[in-house]
Amino acid sequence: MHCTRKLTDDIFWLGASDRRLALFENAFPIPRGISYNSYFIDDEKTVLLDTVDKAVSGRFFENLEFLLGGRPLDYAVIDHMEPDHCAMLGELVLRHPEAKLIVNAKTLAMIKQFFDFDVDSRSVIVNEGDTLCTGRHTLNFYMAPMVHWPEVMVTYDSCEKILFSADAFGTFGALGGNIFADEVNFEADWLPDARRYYSNIVGKYGMQVQALLKKTCALEIKMICPLHGPVWRENLGWYVGKYQKWAAWEPEEKGVIIPYGSIYGNTANAAEILAMKLAGRGIRNIQMYDVSSTHTSYIISDSFRFSHIVFASATYNMDIFSAMEVLLLALRAHALQNRTVAFIENGTWAPQAGKLMREIVSGMKNMTIIEPVVTIRSSIKPEQEAELEMLAGAIAAAM
Ligand code: FEO
Repeated sequence: MHCTRKLTDDIFWLGASDRRLALFENAFPIPRGISYNSYFIDDEKTVLLDTVDKAVSGRFFENLEFLLGGRPLDYAVIDHMEPDHCAMLGELVLRHPEAKLIVNAKTLAMIKQFFDFDVDSRSVIVNEGDTLCTGRHTLNFYMAPMVHWPEVMVTYDSCEKILFSADAFGTFGALGGNIFADEVNFEADWLPDARRYYSNIVGKYGMQVQALLKKTCALEIKMICPLHGPVWRENLGWYVGKYQKWAAWEPEEKGVIIPYGSIYGNTANAAEILAMKLAGRGIRNIQMYDVSSTHTSYIISDSFRFSHIVFASATYNMDIFSAMEVLLLALRAHALQNRTVAFIENGTWAPQAGKLMREIVSGMKNMTIIEPVVTIRSSIKPEQEAELEMLAGAIAAAM
């Protein structure tokens, strides 16, 4: 049996999906699962582009043997060495000792770190712009360091104008037969996971993603084949446009998100009142999150989407409420920039969270802080309504 799909006359998808894994990278919830994409070129020479995660190795090898149909595997191109793609390399060389591995120098070193087989004797080292002719197809290799590891390269088939883009343009979400983005309602059903994947996995490396986009915009591209999620053959410009915004940390739209860290609901109440006042001023699509119950990855994703953020936090152990601190440090680690930010703090005897949150955000690039921090002591009082009204007004004015 096999579970493969034709992309063109002689290029095939042979990946597999996992709907059982709870946390991708043991860190990110994936309620819609994940696909590990691998590709095969059936040319005069046979070519495999990347392997898959160990969890789906059985199906992957069934697919590979089906596509080879008894022929030898001539080349395996290794675009990315993260184990969700390279895990089966050891078994691949056992099953196909004839295969030459197409790698760059950094990849070669990483294979030696992950595996014990003799890498040198079976590797062909490629550099930026090098090509490999496999018969009808010519593969061109371009380095894409830090998208999202240092050894990453992308492979461009100049015959079919296909970009095998490694992690770039990938997304969380398992595939179910419809492997093309134009076969699903991508904007409604997939974009939130694509944004969450980008912002959390690659988001820190916006400069490097911009460099890759610049490099590839010189190429005529008819299809983008990422290592996760749907393949793009229509409306490529729309998705590339999303990437251009994300990579430049530009908000996709004007809007406010309000993550709050609240112990007994009083900080949450202040945040809710502010949200109501913002809505009263015509602001739409306000997103509120309890940082204790929403995984940070979702809030990071919406921080990449929207222009304004209000952080509302209780003071805890003379510090920022811990789940809120985790969020702020993650946003800083992902180099979030170009946002307008305001703060609400709470503290029954010594409010500290506002000052400390402000310190973290002040260290981030191009962040505009709306003053002053609104301070509540234990619970919001009627006389403070004017402060929240002023904050709502200042946020609306900054839109
Ligand atoms: Fe899908 Fe960076 O691995």
